[in-house]
Amino acid sequence: MADDVKKLTIFDVQEKVAAGEKVFQVTATDYPTALLVDRSGIEFILIGDSLGMTALGYPSTVPVTMDEMLYHAKAISRAAKRSILVGDLPLGAYHASTSDAVSNAMRMVKEGGADVVKMEGGEDVAPMIEAVVRAGIPVMGHMGLTPQLISKLGGFRVQGKSAAAGAQLIRDADALERAGCFAVVLEAIPDRVAALITERLEIPTIGIGAGPHCDGQNLVLHDLVGLFDRFLPKFAKRYANVGETIDAALREFQQEVRDGAFPAAEHSFVMDDAEYEALLRELGDGD
Ligand code: KIV
Repeated sequence: MADDVKKLTIFDVQEKVAAGEKVFQVTATDYPTALLVDRSGIEFILIGDSLGMTALGYPSTVPVTMDEMLYHAKAISRAAKRSILVGDLPLGAYHASTSDAVSNAMRMVKEGGADVVKMEGGEDVAPMIEAVVRAGIPVMGHMGLTPQLISKLGGFRVQGKSAAAGAQLIRDADALERAGCFAVVLEAIPDRVAALITERLEIPTIGIGAGPHCDGQNLVLHDLVGLFDRFLPKFAKRYANVGETIDAALREFQQEVRDGAFPAAEHSFVMDDAEYEALLRELGDGD
């Protein structure tokens, strides 16, 4: 892709949503996956802490550290020429104080190369979000199922199914908008509640397991292309099975080497006959 490609801004996305267009966010984990997402026209590349599971093999996002996020963010940011880069702040990076929130958001932007940050939570994290926004860094909220608080939520469960829980989600959404979020991810909530939130908020909603009424949709690339087979959440759809393709390629590679089909002449380097004979003579001299 040409170097003069235009970088999107959060205002471009807000305009698209105002014009009734859907917008997209995909979680990438490294340079090659981010290149593919960037070239596909997806508006947001999420440096999501789900990389703890898909790239680092942790059982959840809980153990992911700020340093691990930055390591991946640096690689991803070298690839993102057009998409807006959203850097997740991991568990512990913003929960203790507003000053932690601002300094880790600054690290994500200055060291990681993210354009904006994402923070999980509702009313409870609104003060931290407000501080980061006041410091000049745009924040994407993330509410509903917030995987960083998996212990508190009792597992990866749909949130907001009762009237009372739905009302809390609405209060959370209002708090995130008031705190200054430019967009909000709605994860694993009933589609009707997501529709109500999308209707009442001025800022775009990006759903993942939140039904079709959100302004945009988010998927994790590894789920979308079948590169992670430990589990597939109910709300994710697999559009390809790259894992199967890789598995078949690995097996074919081994078979071809055993059969003598690889490496073939076109994969080998040649030495001139004269040089080869000279080498053999030299070896003979050494005897
Ligand atoms: O880390 C991630 O990929 C996310 C999305 C699931 C929204 O937070």
